[in-house]
Amino acid sequence: MTGAVRLEPVDERNLEPLLSVAAAEADPEDVMPPVQAPAGWSLARRDAFREFHRASFGGLDGPTRTQMYAIVAGGEVVGMVRMTRRDEPGTVETGMWLGRSARGQGLGAAALRELLHVAAAAGMRTVVAETTPDNTGAISVLKKCGAELREKDGKLYAEMCLDSALPAR
Ligand SMILES: CC(C)(COP(=O)(O)OP(=O)(O)OC[C@H]1O[C@@H](n2cnc3c(N)ncnc32)[C@H](O)[C@@H]1OP(=O)(O)O)[C@@H](O)C(=O)NCCC(=O)NCCS
Repeated sequence: MTGAVRLEPVDERNLEPLLSVAAAEADPEDVMPPVQAPAGWSLARRDAFREFHRASFGGLDGPTRTQMYAIVAGGEVVGMVRMTRRDEPGTVETGMWLGRSARGQGLGAAALRELLHVAAAAGMRTVVAETTPDNTGAISVLKKCGAELREKDGKLYAEMCLDSALPAR
């Protein structure tokens, strides 16, 4: 099934639903940078999750040069996809996660397709991503969205060119 998804900029309205999904259905290392805090979804880690996302409320031209989007499917927040401005002109890097119950239904590819459209509308020409060769879910999503993949030093680098026709939504 290819699910229909909508992207909503992460803001105070969807931050708590996003945290709820992350805490219930994702590992901290998949959704935020490491922090010094008790293991698991401790109060300190929840606060760090909020601050990590608030830091990017300024979007592509803000201090983190990152625009984060809540992935909404069936009216519910199910995950997050972001784009971060790179030094190369017209280039952003993307990353995403979904709650466990939303995985394996094609929502990741649907969300990345939406992100490619949003990036093109923002004037970007290239979207890149980095993952590991063992992340079969991420690799499948990237391939479905037309990425060229290159492995180097144990990492997998993906590049999606927005000059060519975008994949259908
Ligand atoms: C990577 C991720 C976003 C993929 O999104 P997704 O919506 O699950 O992707 P898809 O539904 O298109 O599935 C991709 C492939 O992975 C497989 N897969 C995904 N989740 C799975 C699960 N829970 N169990 C079994 N297989 C799964 C699917 O079978 C599918 O294979 P196919 O393309 O051959 O059919 C999601 O798995 C995720 O959030 N993972 C944790 C965070 C992460 O690794 N992010 C990427 C960092 S670079």
